[in-house]
Amino acid sequence: NDLTPTVFVLYGATGDLARRMVLPAFFQLAQHGLLPDEWRLIGSGRGERSDEEFVDHVRDSLTEFGPSPDEGPWDEFAPRLRFAGGGFTVDDPGQLLDVVAKARAEIGEDAQVVHYLSLPPKAFTGYTKAIGAHGLAEAARIVYEKPFGDSPEGFRELDGVVHSVFDEEQVFRIDHFLGKEGTQDLHALRFANGLFEHVWSREHVAQVQIDVPEDLDVADRADFYDATGATLDMLVTHLFQVAAEVAMEPPVSFAAHDILAARESVLSKFRPLEPDDVVLGQFDGYRDLDGVPDDSDTDTFVAARLCIDSGRWRGVPFLLRTGKRLAAKQQRVSLILHRPKGPVDDVPANGNVISLSLAGAGSVDIDVMAKKPGPDLAMAPARVSLDLSAIPGGEPLPPYVSLIHDVLVGDRSLFTTSEGLAQTWRALQPVLDDRPEVHRYAPDSWGPVEANRLAGEHGWLLGQ
Ligand code: BG6
Repeated sequence: NDLTPTVFVLYGATGDLARRMVLPAFFQLAQHGLLPDEWRLIGSGRGERSDEEFVDHVRDSLTEFGPSPDEGPWDEFAPRLRFAGGGFTVDDPGQLLDVVAKARAEIGEDAQVVHYLSLPPKAFTGYTKAIGAHGLAEAARIVYEKPFGDSPEGFRELDGVVHSVFDEEQVFRIDHFLGKEGTQDLHALRFANGLFEHVWSREHVAQVQIDVPEDLDVADRADFYDATGATLDMLVTHLFQVAAEVAMEPPVSFAAHDILAARESVLSKFRPLEPDDVVLGQFDGYRDLDGVPDDSDTDTFVAARLCIDSGRWRGVPFLLRTGKRLAAKQQRVSLILHRPKGPVDDVPANGNVISLSLAGAGSVDIDVMAKKPGPDLAMAPARVSLDLSAIPGGEPLPPYVSLIHDVLVGDRSLFTTSEGLAQTWRALQPVLDDRPEVHRYAPDSWGPVEANRLAGEHGWLLGQ
């Protein structure tokens, strides 16, 4: 293939995120033939490990989290893994500079370097500065995990450091909801089909719901979660980005700069959330989890009614909801259409809904009213479904696989931008300044009943 030879430096290579997400995604890229012909992956960490020990670590991670190394091509993959121990700071680069130099000598001096920070957000600043200080930023790409900043001030500080070392075009900030097949299909569905694009506005859409209930709690990462909460973990990140994908104006083209411009533009139209339009919740039993303080006030649930002040969407509420330990696990984007004007006067409020599932390979489901079979002209609700994985010609990719591939080819269209994130913090600010009360809810429920008022006559579609 014609991909540039790449030295991929994985910081935090022995950490949990790398084991669960990044290393498996990298192996899947190899399985799909989506890596350059020439590449090296250098794990960076504080401890000392030989290359062989790191290879064993990667093998164990794949065995635990899949895909199994036995499914191949492990024998070609393993010899390209290296480890650089001794940490990496401004004062002390450990072994990394030597190992990068060796990798370049092996695969070509013009190999591009991709830095992947699979690290807790508080480490981003130090590593970014170290990369700059040791001359590894030039012509490189850098990938940040979310959250990129944990407050408006934290975001601005981090953004300042990043831009003192990198140009924005070098920066890839992951929000993996943008990489889901279902989210990406929003562009195809809408911009390639008059059937959808013609109804994609306030004239025809009464309400949009972006609903991501989760049934699990936060057991194995209570420390991170308790310091973060649903509003920062999911709302200002994933749900806002998906809302922007739904609400954007048609980009001039599908070139990255046009998509990024369209997403930034609509984010700038998000009206700052009124605290009264946000309901927070915490499930009963959360405080008993290991690692959660007895008096924690962290939100494990958030629901919000967002207004988007664009001509297309003025007056259409965007309802966003997510939470832990809820009654179901789903990831749904739904556009509820106005009832048609005409002779049928008993179309229910939610009779016509265009709905996308973002989970897995994704699906498009359309709720329609149809004629009940039989002699009379009577109506019944029905659903038309399209399973996106059934579309011939390709294989669905998990979001991390898709996004890391985009980093390798230099396509930033599915990554967040500095300007876009500044807009998301602007829209969240009033809720941070005047935090709503946190209501209790029972596990396996749909969250605090207080959230129901946000949805108005339509109610929340999930859980009805
Ligand atoms: C992560 C959040 O970014 O996304 C988690 O930190 C959440 O709390 C997860 O569970 C959901 O993503 P998915 O698509 O992998 O289920």
